[in-house]
Formats: sequence, C-alpha cells, structure tokens
Amino acid sequence: MESNKKRKIVIAIDGHSSCGKSTFAKAIAARLGYIFIDTGAMYRAVTLYALENGGIVGGIVNDDAIVSLLDQIEISFRFNPTRGASDIYVNGEFVEGKIRTIEVSNFVSAVSSIAAVRTKLVAMQQQMGKKRGVVMDGRDIGTVVFPDAELKIYMTADATVRAQRRYEELKAKGDDVNFEEILENVISRDKADMSRTISPLRKADDALVLDNSSMTVEQQMEWFDAQLERVLSL
Ligand code: DC
Repeated sequence: MESNKKRKIVIAIDGHSSCGKSTFAKAIAARLGYIFIDTGAMYRAVTLYALENGGIVGGIVNDDAIVSLLDQIEISFRFNPTRGASDIYVNGEFVEGKIRTIEVSNFVSAVSSIAAVRTKLVAMQQQMGKKRGVVMDGRDIGTVVFPDAELKIYMTADATVRAQRRYEELKAKGDDVNFEEILENVISRDKADMSRTISPLRKADDALVLDNSSMTVEQQMEWFDAQLERVLSL
C-alpha cells in the first residue's frame, strides 16, 4: 500500500437513518477536498420518481412497475457551493427538496429493497468512486459498494436522539411534523434496513463504530482525524 499521507482513499460511512451520517460525511469531504456522495439521496430520488409516475399508487409499492421505470430515471449530482455539497437531479429536475419529505421516507425502505434498484444504483456509486477521493454514506458502502474502502465507519445513535434531530431539522424547514410519527419512521426504517434480504445494513467486520448519541460534531471530527491519521500512516 502507498504510504503517502496525500493518497486518495475511499471513506465508507454506513449506519442507521438520521444519525448525522450526511453532516459528518460532508464535513469530512470538505476538509479533505473529496467528493461527498449521499447514496440515500439516490434511493430517495428513485422513490420520488416512483411516487410521481405510477410505481407507488394508493400506498402500494408495485415492484414490477418500479423496475420498468428504472430505465427512464437518470440521476445526476451538481455541486452547490452554498450547501457545500452536491444537489441531486432526476432527469435534469432539481429534486433535493422533494426527496426529504416524510412521504418519501415512508416508502424508501421498500423501494431500496428491490434488487434491480440496488443493482442500478450500486453500479453508479462504484463508477463515481472509481478514482478514490470520495466519502460515501449509505447502508451498504463498506459491505457491498466498496468492500475495499480504506476507512469504514459504522455510525449509530439512540433512536430517540435521532428522531429528535430529524424532528428539529424538518420543523426548521417549516414542515408540519409530529415527533411520534418520526420516531416510528426511524424505528421501522432501522428494522427494514437491517432485515431486508439484499444488502441489509450491517457493520462490516473491519468498520469502526461511532456512536454519536452524546457527541458534538467537533468531538466526532476529532475522533475522525485520529482514525484518518492511523489509516494514512499504514
Ligand atoms: O440515508 P437516508 O436515510 O437518506 O436513506 C434513505 C433510505 O435509503 C434508507 O431507509 C435505506 C436506503 N438506503 C439503502 O438501502 N442503501 C444505501 N446505500 C443508502 C440508503
């Protein structure tokens, strides 16, 4: 392995929903000048497209209909300097705001458990990280997308803490939200993500666990710096 501290690596961040993976990943990417890829946004974008184009009707997820829509879905990212991260587009339409609603959250686990959806998105993710220098967050990055990632982090936090954070985030955006509904969504998504047959959420054997229930962003960054230092000096 190249022992140059400047060498570009893949940083895989997996873990439970709403535990701050994206905030953490985005901060790391900015610090290192890496590309940040929020793979959850990709599954959300497919879910939104399914909701708007007959793949989910009356609360029923139609797997076959979604699979047949896949060829029509072109996902792209464009860097947004104001956010310091890339915004997601579907067929050229900016959908960053529309993919974070509770409606999309309620269906995304079902959509992300469809094999053909995963095959398409995993291939895109591998292509995006081909040149290394990426921080990718999701559920299966260290296990399936980049099993050879040089640094793997498995993030988690107490479910109530996560629901509270999500509640505040949505409320700040002006959404009409209910804490109990969010907590229920967090718990049911954990269950769905960890129990699905294809690429369930699980800690890769070589991943480091980061439980940030009572950690500030600064403390998490300090922890990260120490891990990065160790990996780059190998
Ligand atoms: O990170 P997030 O909560 O925005 O992700 C939304 C959903 O997408 C999540 O419930 C599980 C799914 N997902 C996945 O199956 N694999 C990934 N790599 C990323 C997300």
